Amino acid sequence: MSELDNLRSELMAAVDSAAGLDDLEKIRVSALGKKGRITELMKGLGAMDPDVRKQAGQILNAIKGEVAEAIEAKKQGSANSELDARLATETLDVSLPVRPAREGLVHPISQTIDEVVAILGELGLSVAEGPDIEDDWHNFTALNIPPDHPARQEHDTFYLPGRGGDENEDDRLVLRTHTSPVQIRTMMNSEPPIRIIVPGRTYRCDYDATHSPMFHQVEGLVIDENTHMGHLKGCIIDFCRAFFGVDDLPVRFRPSYFPFTEPSAEVDIGCTREGGEFRIGHGDDWLEILGCGMVNTKVLENCNIDSSRYQGFAFGIGIERMAMLKYGIPDLRTFYESDLRWLRHYGFSALRVPSMVGGL
Ligand code: DAH
Repeated sequence: MSELDNLRSELMAAVDSAAGLDDLEKIRVSALGKKGRITELMKGLGAMDPDVRKQAGQILNAIKGEVAEAIEAKKQGSANSELDARLATETLDVSLPVRPAREGLVHPISQTIDEVVAILGELGLSVAEGPDIEDDWHNFTALNIPPDHPARQEHDTFYLPGRGGDENEDDRLVLRTHTSPVQIRTMMNSEPPIRIIVPGRTYRCDYDATHSPMFHQVEGLVIDENTHMGHLKGCIIDFCRAFFGVDDLPVRFRPSYFPFTEPSAEVDIGCTREGGEFRIGHGDDWLEILGCGMVNTKVLENCNIDSSRYQGFAFGIGIERMAMLKYGIPDLRTFYESDLRWLRHYGFSALRVPSMVGGL
């Protein structure tokens, strides 16, 4: 028993004179660790006489508790004094000027979408959305592009297995190749009059200086009882002039073909290309910027809209192309390279929200 008493005094003295956290940990391991002195003594209890074992057991348990407690208390004290020492040597100069925060910038794609939405919003159209993963019917068939239609080949579609697996072509899914399927979703889910714009991501398997596998479009759709081609032309001309900031910008409607519109047109704006210099505005050249037309009666009927009562127009604008033209960005691939130097050059202040009144 006196041996145990000595052990107790020895351990408590060691804890008392320990110099820091490392020292304390060493003492803890040597006394209470798996092979520590107290642990070993406890293992030896089994071989003792029952009476002695009981007494020695109690004393050992008491020593164990006492030493553990002393180590914990000393650890706390050491941690505090180590922190005090650090605080005393490290200094913090609160009088230093604040480091200027780098301002975040709006990407030209977001800026262009905001501008298009601001202009067309002013004309009474509101934003609608649809899924990026579409089914064949919304992306093609309902838009009057049946399975064997050549327009399907032009779209370089990314196909995904349908719900029925890889084999079943009828229910396969696609990454939407244009924003036009949202026309279908809106007509299926609401009653005319309809006036929507649909900005969003679109996908085609194509990659070069003017094509990217993911790009952006804005779709427009207006359906009402008396909507006619004059409304389409007025809307598009106003839009082009506001977007490019040229009041008398020449705008030309050239007959074209889209399966979902009849008649269809492609829209060109006036420009000059002289000696490698390119300018939007008056000039002797034309530049194609969007597709449009009067919604094909077949599309209205596919969406259960009475085509003898309602008619309307639609258009599709490529966002990257508009941004490249307006802001002089030569290579479409740079939009997606996430190069901060590029963004610092072409980006826009987040605090200047585009609007028709405040400026685009
Ligand atoms: N969806 C067409 C495309 O991606 C663009 C387009 C053309 C949309 C004419 C329209 C439209 O709504 O009327 O090539």
